[in-house]
Amino acid sequence: MTERNLVLLGPPGAGKGTQAERLVDDFGLPYYSTGNILRDAVENGTELGRKAKEFMDAGELVPDDLITNVIAERLDSGDADDGFLLDGFPRTIGQAEMLEGALGERNRKVTAALLIEAPDEEVVRRLSGRRQCVKNGHVYHVEFDPPKNEGVCDQDGSRLEQRDDDKPETVQKRLAVYHEQTEPLILWYGERGLLRRFDGTRTPEEVNSHIRATLATLALEDEI
Ligand code: AP5
Ligand code: MG
Repeated sequence: MTERNLVLLGPPGAGKGTQAERLVDDFGLPYYSTGNILRDAVENGTELGRKAKEFMDAGELVPDDLITNVIAERLDSGDADDGFLLDGFPRTIGQAEMLEGALGERNRKVTAALLIEAPDEEVVRRLSGRRQCVKNGHVYHVEFDPPKNEGVCDQDGSRLEQRDDDKPETVQKRLAVYHEQTEPLILWYGERGLLRRFDGTRTPEEVNSHIRATLATLALEDEI
């Protein structure tokens, strides 16, 4: 495969960030998590962060125009010319169409949409115990994937925090928004022959090896 232009899809807490960390190690792709980009913007008090904060705190999506500019800038930067891994984008049909258009102008396209599936009750269990490092957003779970030292990131030594939007009532809202606004993308990518499904209830290692096997098959198909 000449390019790996990958999109991670799935409900909150399915393990998109967890798998992204592994895929970045496996393939060295530039990784763009719109959630992490927006949380950084909020933390740094930028204009983007000020506009995004109220939506994020409410568990709602930020307006498409705010986030599509962020992605367009990354695609224009040159860093993603040989491939990329997107996590949390696209999340609406409008965002998917924008991405298709922006890539199409460069004679490129998404090569696979990787859907990680997990039922709502599993999502709730996972998000209540999630901890994320303040420096680079590395993801842990107090029970399922604990750090070696409590409250400290194994990878960069920074402090681990609970995300503001992991409060139970906000998680319920995020799930509802996912089902309503993002789930239609499963059909959208399915119709284009790009959808690949993964059982997110397996261990992180199992999910990673399934994704790698699928990407290896896609690369072989591309060579034939
Ligand atoms: P975002 O940051 O993208 O959040 P999300 O989609 O709700 O997904 P999460 O990050 O919560 O879950 P994840 O799938 O990455 O799971 P993780 O690997 O951490 O978006 C946040 C907000 O930003 C949105 O609500 C919206 O406001 C805004 N936003 C972002 N992008 C936007 C866009 N494009 N348009 C508009 N608005 C946008 O795993 C979860 C936990 O489970 C962890 O503790 C982990 O250790 C554990 N875990 C993971 N895998 C496993 C496993 N296999 N078994 C057991 N435990 C596991
Ligand atoms: Mg995430």
